[in-house]
Amino acid sequence: MEADKGRAKKHKPPREEAYFETSSPDETRRLGQSLGQHLRARDVVLLTGDLGSGKTTFCKGVGLGADVEDEITSPTFTLIAEYEGRIPLAHMDLYRIAGDPRKLDEIGWDDYVEGEFAVLVEWPLTALGGLDDVMHVQIERPSLMRFQSRRLHAIAVGTRSTELLKEWVTTWESS
Ligand SMILES: Nc1ncnc2c1ncn2[C@@H]1O[C@H](COP(=O)(O)OP(=O)(O)OP(=O)(O)O)[C@@H](O)[C@H]1O
Ligand SMILES: [Mg+2]
Repeated sequence: MEADKGRAKKHKPPREEAYFETSSPDETRRLGQSLGQHLRARDVVLLTGDLGSGKTTFCKGVGLGADVEDEITSPTFTLIAEYEGRIPLAHMDLYRIAGDPRKLDEIGWDDYVEGEFAVLVEWPLTALGGLDDVMHVQIERPSLMRFQSRRLHAIAVGTRSTELLKEWVTTWESS
């Protein structure tokens, strides 16, 4: 038992978390922009939150930060949209295949997360399990009264994603 404990401890990946609050769609875009500036190939950012919580709004900002010229739009029907910026960016919305992990193979999931893309994933239910270095951003509406306020909770696991989260926080706090 003791040996098992020791092994689990040794392999525990680094973990970081941060909270953000925004009070308008524009501020959520700017928050995304400050993350987008730091994205590199093979970074994966999973976005969860209710319908209309602001995932796509956040992704639009990420695109700006990654120097994507086209406006990022919701790929609900196409599942994946690819953009060319400072790095290639793939934006996915897996809402329609939530609950069916086999569909991940059909869309070429591994090629995206192991390739040249930085990857943003809305409704990542089918993809949550298989990644060992990943950032998860959960968006919530903290209050029904303040309908334009959003709370974002970011959790990064793994060496690269924790570094990415620290860079993002530093840029956001100095902006
Ligand atoms: N602080 C805020 N941040 C982001 N969006 C906000 C904020 N306040 C209000 N909104 C509004 O909430 C909506 C968010 O829509 P968006 O498409 O980004 O959500 P989504 O999470 O991608 O939804 P879906 O699950 O349908 O893909 C927009 O209409 C936006 O104007
Ligand atoms: Mg969306």
